[in-house]
Amino acid sequence: MKTLLLNNISDTKKNIKEWKKNGQTIGLVPTMGALHAGHASLIKKAKETCDKVVVSVFVNPIQFGPNEDYDKYPRTIEKDLKICEELGVNIVFAPSPNEMYGNGVKLSDTELTFVCPPYNLIDCMCGKSRPGHFDGVATVVLKLFNIVQPDFAFFGQKDAQQLFILKRMVHDLNLDLTIVPCPIVREKDGLALSSRNTYLSDEERKTALTISKSLNQIKILYNQGIKDTKKLFDAAISILDKSLELEYLEFRNADTFEDVQEINGTTLVAIAAKCGKTRLIDNEII
Ligand code: PAJ
Repeated sequence: MKTLLLNNISDTKKNIKEWKKNGQTIGLVPTMGALHAGHASLIKKAKETCDKVVVSVFVNPIQFGPNEDYDKYPRTIEKDLKICEELGVNIVFAPSPNEMYGNGVKLSDTELTFVCPPYNLIDCMCGKSRPGHFDGVATVVLKLFNIVQPDFAFFGQKDAQQLFILKRMVHDLNLDLTIVPCPIVREKDGLALSSRNTYLSDEERKTALTISKSLNQIKILYNQGIKDTKKLFDAAISILDKSLELEYLEFRNADTFEDVQEINGTTLVAIAAKCGKTRLIDNEII
């Protein structure tokens, strides 16, 4: 089966309208491209769940801060298309920034309608270190939902805060679709797959590995009965390579996203650290 590569909104909508008329279910996998096995796992889940699958490939300028890697972010559309073709994707929707936001959109555009996620969900973790990031994510994802009109949309647990915020958006804005969370895909040695891993030198990759190791250590200690997050925090820090610049290591109630001192229910343990110039995130649910 040939995968259709479409760059414009109206052609994409036309195809989708046709599928809808035939009563087919539609799955959307939003991505920024540079596809890897993590993205592929979402696409496979979408194929299992839906009649038609759309993968969007769009490096969304409005979710990057002025000092972040928007220009440098890997763009590998030929390779992405090939992966999508192999996985039986029906449409790859890969619009330009201009197609999505209109003429002359700049990174600091102030003339756009934004979705603003609730303060309590963005005043922590990545939201704190990347001001405006989740406004940009929620806005582009809502636009993608409106263009593709999916019945199901697939997101990775790798970006746990993003997933939580988007579920909340679907609930709060009464969107008529189901979000399907998908587990984190890791390398054999535990490193969480990320498009940004391509930035890492061999040496950096070794130090980056201590991120998943520190989360693992927390899991081990928790299973041994340690519930005090301060103790768990300290144990994790002792494993993290000293050359990493820790941005946060937070414990959040997995249902409410509230900060946790003493673990007494399902808890998200989330970490962000800079490895050289590369910002990496990972998490575990314990
Ligand atoms: P991107 O980083 O390309 O990720 C696209 C989707 O793939 C996200 O749902 C992310 O959680 C998932 N993903 C990435 N690495 C994964 C891994 N190792 N295991 C499982 N899933 C993984 O997240 C974004 O793009 C953007 O913010 C987007 C939602 C597309 C909005 O622009």
